[in-house]
Amino acid sequence: MTKKKAIILGITGQTGSYLAKYLIEKGYYVYGTRRRTSTFPLDTNKLEKLIDFKKYLNKRLILKYGDITDISAIRDFIYEIKPDEIYNLAAQSFVKVSFDMPYYTTDANSLGVINILETLKNFKNIDKKRIKFYQASTSEMFGNVTGNKKINESTPMNPVSPYGVSKLYSYHMIKIYREAYNLFLSNGILFNHESPYRTEHFVTKKITKGISNIFNGNQKKLYLGNLNARRDWGHAEDYAKAIYEILNLKKPIDLILAQGKSHSIREFIKECFNFLNIRVNFVGKGINEKVIDQNGKIWIEVKKEYFRPLEIDHLVGDNSNFKKNVKNFKFEHDFKSIVKEMMEFDLKEAELNRKHNK
Ligand code: NAP
Ligand code: GDD
Repeated sequence: MTKKKAIILGITGQTGSYLAKYLIEKGYYVYGTRRRTSTFPLDTNKLEKLIDFKKYLNKRLILKYGDITDISAIRDFIYEIKPDEIYNLAAQSFVKVSFDMPYYTTDANSLGVINILETLKNFKNIDKKRIKFYQASTSEMFGNVTGNKKINESTPMNPVSPYGVSKLYSYHMIKIYREAYNLFLSNGILFNHESPYRTEHFVTKKITKGISNIFNGNQKKLYLGNLNARRDWGHAEDYAKAIYEILNLKKPIDLILAQGKSHSIREFIKECFNFLNIRVNFVGKGINEKVIDQNGKIWIEVKKEYFRPLEIDHLVGDNSNFKKNVKNFKFEHDFKSIVKEMMEFDLKEAELNRKHNK
């Protein structure tokens, strides 16, 4: 087993939690930052469900307070740990909120990355160690692609959200610092990835949790936005493993990670109802659309407030470059198995809540 040290910024998030689990299983010492909140810190709940805290916390998993916007915290952390690898998954990652909070989104997603890059540049001058750095880049950087073609690493990038722009800034800074200062910096350009540990304001989790709650009588209806949008969905556990592989290639690289297939939000909803064996119809159009079962019960309604000022209609990625570079990588999940796992997980939780509320 390796004795390597890795820092994960954004360790409390969905993908950070899976990555921490994977690296610990590989024998890594994993260091992560958590943010200070004024409420009781429940921010490690995803990590605690995936990792045996009793066994690993403060032994092979060390958590420190830190914020990517605070250069002193980031710099001290990196200098103290002197890690072999840093994975930057920390971000204001919700596209819709980026329209409401463009300054903070830029601060965290763009300037936050500069805090790390400047630290790495200076660190290289005083220490021989060449730290490998992974940046969580995103398919949002591409925006709307003419003809809804499969996106590859050469597709022009025209983001249509403050989030997409903030990530595009970092993507380019990674390329510049890599070339200018000979640093080991890689961009993983990941398409949407989901799991039972997805935060619930993202559409997949909102749907699986909402339908499970309605099924259990905990909730009356679910309200959603644009059901026509199409996304290329993979599983966060597969993608966490792929992130490790990307950073551990011999040379730094920019690589797309996707499934190569897209589904609409409507198709995702249909798959959830298939899982429950409930037949539903989509009735009406645009903001009047509803999802109704055979007994006339309305499960889902479309609401204007969940639409975005600008939208990406279709995202689908070409992962052939990833497959060429990361040989024999096996994706364990596909669209159907992701829906199944999320539904099973949320039905269990909803059933517990129903019993608890009785
Ligand atoms: P997530 O669940 O929203 O996790 C985001 C993480 O960033 C959380 O740990 C969060 O901490 C942390 N964070 C937010 N602001 C921070 C700050 N100012 N300082 C330090 N930490 C901060 O997102 P995810 O789905 O795991 O995605 C991980 C990364 O991949 C993100 O950078 C995202 O933009 C990128 N990405 C995601 C996808 C996807 O489909 N999931 C696709 C492409 C790229 P708290 O727990 O305190 O909020
Ligand atoms: N969140 C949300 N809530 N989205 C909805 C809803 C709703 O009620 N109704 C429809 N949608 C549509 C959105 O308009 C969007 O087209 C699609 O569902 C997916 O939305 P999200 O799940 O919020 O994800 P995203 O694609 O905007 O962003 C995610 O993927 C990016 C990679 O492409 C995030 O994980 C980003 O951090 C990531 O970079």
